[in-house]
Amino acid sequence: MMLTKRLAACAAQVTPGGVICDVGTDHAYLPAELLRQNRCTRAVATDIHAGPLEAAQRTLTEAGVLSRAELHLCDGLEQIQPGDITDVVIAGMGSETILHILEECPWRRQVHFILQPMTKIPVLRQWLVQQCFSWTEEIVQEGEKFYVVMSVSAAESPVSLTPLELEIGCVNWQSETVRRYAAWKQQRFQKLAQQLHRAGRAEAETWTALSQEIETRLQMEHNGKGEALC
Ligand SMILES: C[S@@+](CC[C@H](N)C(=O)[O-])C[C@H]1O[C@@H](n2cnc3c(N)ncnc32)[C@H](O)[C@@H]1O
Repeated sequence: MMLTKRLAACAAQVTPGGVICDVGTDHAYLPAELLRQNRCTRAVATDIHAGPLEAAQRTLTEAGVLSRAELHLCDGLEQIQPGDITDVVIAGMGSETILHILEECPWRRQVHFILQPMTKIPVLRQWLVQQCFSWTEEIVQEGEKFYVVMSVSAAESPVSLTPLELEIGCVNWQSETVRRYAAWKQQRFQKLAQQLHRAGRAEAETWTALSQEIETRLQMEHNGKGEALC
């Protein structure tokens, strides 16, 4: 079984030899592969719908790892006790669902989270800042699509983000994928600024400024003058 680049990037962040919990597991491709490769000792997988959990059971059975897995039909982590769980993966969902799952988890400061949000990522970043978490981010490209993978842990002191970091993340500009992602974001911000400008809305300036900041960063990287943003 081959994981997609997106899921492989999530798998790469898992603590070797740990116990993972995959929330919204769907076909359980991630836990099945981690168990098959003995990269985790045990896996807990949850899904809010019965159909995906049946598919998960089939995948885990075919991979010959079902005896080391536990399946739960529940919303987020509501039926899960932290026990020896080292890493919780919440991938392929919108930020609002991820936030709901995190907010309802009383033991969220005890484990490492691997988050792979699909939409509204600045909202998730803002919440993580407010809740005193720190994290690193990686950008993965599959064809035309970009995915953000976040490795998140409780922090002792709050982190702060600039408006640009809030929008595109705390990323390594030296990575070619990051620069492609930033260029794509820049185009989107520019278009948004134009639309808002035409509608006579003052927020247009914010998006123009962000778009220009990205352009400057990309130019600096191109000229070899870039430095880590955070
Ligand atoms: C798009 S799939 C993502 C599957 C896999 N995690 C991945 O990244 O490829 C989303 C899955 O999350 C499940 N889901 C949605 N909301 C959930 C929640 N609150 N708690 C648990 N599972 C949820 C859905 O039923 C679905 O199977």
